[in-house]
Amino acid sequence: MFSLGSAPQRTIAELEPKYGSVVWLKLGSVNTMAVLTAKAAAELFKNHDLSFADRSIVETMTAHGYHNGSLALAPYGSAWRVLRRICTVEMFANKRINETGEIRGRCVENMLTWIEKDGNGNGNGIPVGRFVFLAAFNMLGNLMLSRDLVGRSRRREWNSMGLKRRANRDMGIAFGIASGYVKERIKQREKGGGNMRDFLDVLLEFEGYNGESGKLSETEIIIFILGTHNGIPKIVKSAKKIAGNILAGTETTSTTIEWAMTELLRNPSTMAKAKDEISNIVVNTEKFQENHIDNLPYLQAVIKETLRLHPPLPFLIPRRAVRDTNFMGYFVPKNTQVFVNVWAIGRDQECWDDASCFKPDRFLGTNTDYRGQHFELIPFGAGRRMCVGLTLGHRMLHFVLGSLLHEFDWELESSVGPEDVDMKERMGITVGKLVPLKAVPRKCVMSDVGSRELEM
Ligand code: HEM
Repeated sequence: MFSLGSAPQRTIAELEPKYGSVVWLKLGSVNTMAVLTAKAAAELFKNHDLSFADRSIVETMTAHGYHNGSLALAPYGSAWRVLRRICTVEMFANKRINETGEIRGRCVENMLTWIEKDGNGNGNGIPVGRFVFLAAFNMLGNLMLSRDLVGRSRRREWNSMGLKRRANRDMGIAFGIASGYVKERIKQREKGGGNMRDFLDVLLEFEGYNGESGKLSETEIIIFILGTHNGIPKIVKSAKKIAGNILAGTETTSTTIEWAMTELLRNPSTMAKAKDEISNIVVNTEKFQENHIDNLPYLQAVIKETLRLHPPLPFLIPRRAVRDTNFMGYFVPKNTQVFVNVWAIGRDQECWDDASCFKPDRFLGTNTDYRGQHFELIPFGAGRRMCVGLTLGHRMLHFVLGSLLHEFDWELESSVGPEDVDMKERMGITVGKLVPLKAVPRKCVMSDVGSRELEM
C-alpha cells in the first residue's frame, strides 16, 4: 500500500513530476484524488466546485452528531447553508469584525505583557507560538462567549495546551465545558442579565431564515461553537482526531504566526524591512492597531509568503465528490475524497520563481492575494466551502504579527544561528513546527522624537 509517511503533503507533492497535476490514490479503502498544481486547482474551483462541495468524514467524527452540526464538516446542503449564513451575516461580517476590534486589542495587550514578563530580559527564548495561541484563543472565546477562556498561569477549565490534549482524547469533555457556558447564559438571559450581545446570543435568538430551518437546539449550538476547523481528519496513522473547535480557528492563526516569526528570524534582512515599515507608519502611535494594516504592504507580503510556504491546512479541509464527475479527462466516482494540496501548489514551479525560498518581496506591486481568486495561493481554500473566517483570520494574523514586531526586537537564542533553525513539520490538526520556535524578545521603547530604540 502507498505510504504517506509523516509529511503526506510532501510525499504526495513528489508524485507530480512523474504522474502530473492530478493523482489517484488508494488510502486504505478510501479512493482519493489529489490536486497538485494551480492549473488543476483552477479547473476544480472554477468548473467543478459544486461536484466537490462535500466534506470527507471519517467515522470517528460522527460522535455526538458532530459532523452535522459543525460548519466545517457539515454535508453540503440546507443545514450547512443555514450555518454558513449565520457565520457570514452575524459573525464575520465586516461591521461585526470592526465592532469587536477592542476585544482583540485587549487580548493582544495581554499577550504582549505576558511576553514581556516571561522574556524578563534574561536572554532566554520564549515559546512564541504558545503566547500567540493564548491570545488567539481568547479573541475567539470573547467573540463567541464574551469571556477569556485561558490565562497565562491561572489554571482555568480550558487550560491552553492541556485543553488540546484533552479535547483530542475525548470530545465529550469539550462538549461538557461548552454546555456549561451555554446553560449559564440561558439562565442569565432568563434573569434579563447580560450586557453586550455576542455570538452565543445570536445563536440563542436565531429563529431561522426564510422558513428554511427553525431554532437551533442546545446541542446544535454547542457543536457550532466547538466546530470551526474541527475534526479535520488526521490522515497519518490513526486518523482519529476530532480536536478542539474555537481551538482550530486558533491553531491556524498561531501556527501561521509561529512560521512567520521563524522565517523572519532566519532571514534577518526581511525582519529588518518589516520592522522599518512598521516604525515608519506607527511612528507617533504607541500601539500597533488594526487600522494600520492597510498601510503595511510589506507586512502583508510577509503573511502571504508565510501562507504560501506553510499553509496550516495543506490539503484544505478534505472535500468529497457529491456525484460522479468527469474532471480533466478522468472519471471521478461519487464519494471520492479530494485533497487539494496547497502546500504543493505554493511551490508550483509554473507559478513561482525560486519557489522554496522565503521572499516576501515577490508580492510587492502585484495584486496576488489569498481571497480565492488566485489559484496559485489558496491557503484559505476557494469556492463555496472556502474559509468563512478569512476576514477575521486576516485581521488577527496581521494584528498579532505587527504587534509582536512593533513592540519587541527579536533574536534567536545565542546557541542557534539562522541556518540552524529546525524547519521540520508536525502533522496535527494543522501543520506546525515539530520543534517549537524559541525566540528572545527585547522590548523597544519610544524615544522623545518618536523613533524607536532598544531598552537597555
Ligand atoms: C490563518 C488563518 C486561517 C486559515 C489559513 C484557514 C484556512 C481554512 C481552510 C483551508 C478551510 C477549508 C476551505 C476549503 O475547503 O476550500 C477553512 C474552512 C473554514 N474556516 Fe478557516 N482558516 C483560518 C482562520 C479561520 C478562523 C479565524 C475561523 C473562525 C473562527 C475559521 C473558520 C472556518 C470555518 C467555519 C470553515 C469551514 C467552512 C465551510 O466548510 O463552509 N477559519 N479554513
